[in-house]
Amino acid sequence: MIGVLVSGDGSNLQALIDAGLPIAAVASNRGGVRALERAESAGIPARVFELDRYSDRDARDRDVADWLQLRGVDLVVLAGYMHLLTPSFLDRFPDRIVNVHPSLLPAFPGAHAVDDALSAGVEETGVTVHYVDEGLDTGAVIRQEPVPLEPRATLLERIHAVEHRLLPQVVQELCAR
Ligand code: GRF
Repeated sequence: MIGVLVSGDGSNLQALIDAGLPIAAVASNRGGVRALERAESAGIPARVFELDRYSDRDARDRDVADWLQLRGVDLVVLAGYMHLLTPSFLDRFPDRIVNVHPSLLPAFPGAHAVDDALSAGVEETGVTVHYVDEGLDTGAVIRQEPVPLEPRATLLERIHAVEHRLLPQVVQELCAR
């Protein structure tokens, strides 16, 4: 079963839902976000784990991992999740945590990948699905697809379209393992 971690809009969560993947739980580090509404509409149990309710990040991450495992999760997907994960979470799902990132990693890690690609003046950026480790978008790459920068007016839309196709594909394959 899949657990999805979110922080915001949840369009990648929606792509996973629409692909009919077996999602058992959605965890968010923020309340009131659209991703939680999407989970609710799909009838998927969702919970908020706000950092400021815990003594530290380790304690919060342990709580998230406990809840996911209670719900039978054995594959974790970060879909727009904006916090780094501590070893207390990573060690609970070895080689079973993946993230989707809007660049061709290792180029442009971090929260501003699309803006950084635009500022750097590269001709293409892209989408990466990768395993998650302690670093900021540093885990082993599973799949990548380039996206040309031009036309810029539609860049974000085209990146999202690739994410929404690539992520469910990779997750489907990992589910079969
Ligand atoms: C996506 O672009 C993803 O690559 C990045 O954050 C964005 C999240 O979008 N990590 P959404 O919440 O899935 O709509």
